[in-house]
Formats: sequence, C-alpha cells, structure tokens
Amino acid sequence: MHSDLAFLSSLELSDIDRVTTANLIFDVVDWGHLQPRSLTVGEVNDYFGNLAEKYSSNDDIGSQGVRSVLAESPRYSALSLASVTGKVYSDLWSSFDDVEYFDKTLELLQTRFTANAISIEKFSSCLDAGCGSGRYSVALKKMNPHMSVTGLDVSSDAINFGRQMAKRKGVEVSFQTGSVLDLPFEDESFDFVFSNGVLHHTSSTEQGLREINRILKPGGGCWLYLYGGKGALFWDIVECCRAILRDVPQEYTQNIMAEIGFEAGKIFHRCDFFYVPTNRRYLESEVTAMLENSKFSRWHRLERDVGHGWDEILWNHPNTSLLFGEGEMKFWVQK
Ligand SMILES: C[S@@+](CC[C@H](N)C(=O)[O-])C[C@H]1O[C@@H](n2cnc3c(N)ncnc32)[C@H](O)[C@@H]1O
Repeated sequence: MHSDLAFLSSLELSDIDRVTTANLIFDVVDWGHLQPRSLTVGEVNDYFGNLAEKYSSNDDIGSQGVRSVLAESPRYSALSLASVTGKVYSDLWSSFDDVEYFDKTLELLQTRFTANAISIEKFSSCLDAGCGSGRYSVALKKMNPHMSVTGLDVSSDAINFGRQMAKRKGVEVSFQTGSVLDLPFEDESFDFVFSNGVLHHTSSTEQGLREINRILKPGGGCWLYLYGGKGALFWDIVECCRAILRDVPQEYTQNIMAEIGFEAGKIFHRCDFFYVPTNRRYLESEVTAMLENSKFSRWHRLERDVGHGWDEILWNHPNTSLLFGEGEMKFWVQK
C-alpha cells in the first residue's frame, strides 16, 4: 500500500476535500473501536470500495455543508495555507479545555494504572520525560502529592503552556525545556520516569532509553509507551491520510475539523497522526531487544487499557488484530 501513496497526494482535490476525505478514511479506526467483533478483511475492503465510488461519483465527498460554513465564517479568511508549522503539538493542546486537560487526563491515567496494577505511591521523585502540555505531569502530582514531579519537553511552547495550566490550578510541578536524548540530570536522580508516547518521535528511541536508564535510581520504575501495531491496517490508514494532507496546513485541518464538530480530544488524536514528522512503530520483540540493549533489568508488557484503547479492544476482541496488529507497546520497566 505504501508504494502507491504518491498517487493520493497528487489527486486533484481541494484542501477541504482533503480534510474530509482523510477523516472519512480515518473513520475506519473508529469503526474498529465501535464494532470490534465485525471488523473483517471483507468489510474493510467494502469500506474502501464505497469510498472509491464516492470519489468517482461526487467530488465534494459530502463537504458541501462545510464549504458553506466556511464561506460565511470570517475567522477563516486570514487562514494561511502557505506553511505547516513545526508546532504540531502545541497547536493542538491550546484548544484543550479544563475538563479535557485536568479531569479526563486524570481519569484516563488512574484507569490505566489500575487496569495494569501499577501503583506509584512509593515513589518520591518523578520525571515526565517529553511531557508536552504537562497534562500527565499535573495528573501524576495529583495522584501522589508527596512525589516531586518534573515535566521536561523539547518545546518551550509546551513547557510554557504546562506551567500556566499547573499554576492556574495551584498544582506544584516544575517544568523545564530539554531533550530526552540528553537529559539535563545527574545519574540516578529519579525513582519514577513517565515516558508516554515520546521516544518514537525522536531520532533515536534507544538513546532515549539509555538516558532514562541513566537517570533512574536502582530499583526505580518507568512507564514506557511506544507506538505498536507495526504492519497493521491502522498505519496504512495513517499513511493514506498523511499523503492526502501532505500540503494542507495543520491549522487549516484543525479548523475544518472543529467546524465539522469534532471535539478537541479527537482533533488532537487525529492531527497527531496526520502531522507529526516521525512516528516509528514497533513489534514487541523489537522493544524488548532495545530494553535489553539499554541495560534494564526487568520489564513486562501492560496489556490492559481504558475501554476505547487498542489493547483493551484487542484483549476483548482478538480478531481486531487486522486493525491493531500486536497492539500498543506499553511496558512497565525496571532498572
Ligand atoms: C505525543 S506528544 C506526548 C506528550 C505527553 N507525553 C502526553 O502523553 O501527552 C510527544 C511530545 O514529545 C516531545 N518531544 C519530541 N522529541 C523530544 C525530545 N527529543 N526531547 C523532549 N521532548 C521531545 C514533543 O515536543 C511532544 O510534546
């Protein structure tokens, strides 16, 4: 599938059609979430067949409503189609409201920890390595108020945003800029590291793992989440969408999606996949080889998740491996 993707980006489609088409294609993922029992190769083929028919019979792909909204809306008149900024994530987080940022994140993390029997009670210092908006740094502090929490990210926009949000709610988290590939901390500085969806976006996952190992205290623990599902349909869908949206600025896509009625969390989730420059994915055997090379002593795969998470769906409906492959690569790792 990947070798044909140039064809998608060269199609004669308007930017609005590109955004709506990418979202229609990505709907297969939600479809897999909603009806996990019935997702089969035949159904997926039917889905893409129907989409192809829409292409040939109606080049607007249902976007007429969006087009008229845009025509009326002055807020889009100054939209620049010229450049995609490098600020993929900070642009996405800025639209989170308090419920999404504070309440939903805390609930999500608590459910994930409980489902996988993880307790962070005993830890006294935590590094959120690649904290982004800082939403998990804040949630971790709330879960264990006795633990000092440091949020670190390479993006100063993200760090400033996290600082503002934490301050506004009076949550004590220290934020600083820096790279997870060259952590600005002494050896054995933390007893807990939270690395959630970060290292697969860097130039070297293994260098990041070596750094985490270096700054962890002996016996310390690490929550590690890397992209999984290598080779599964999910990533083919992502690559299709990326090819279709290649020349459409992120800001434009976000605005259209908001206008269509997507909530902030879903815009974040999709645009993350659509726009982030690097997103390597792994098989379980590849993760364990990297952990071994990075000198960790023990680890186990975290197999449960919240209801809509890949791993939870796979746990309950193994036939969804067509879409999700081996699932996400979440591990509890010890030095
Ligand atoms: C998908 S976001 C995850 C953010 C956060 N962990 C979460 O789960 O909400 C990836 C984050 O990694 C950060 N990042 C990418 N490369 C980095 C690096 N070398 N050092 C530190 N942060 C990095 C990005 O700026 C972004 O905030």
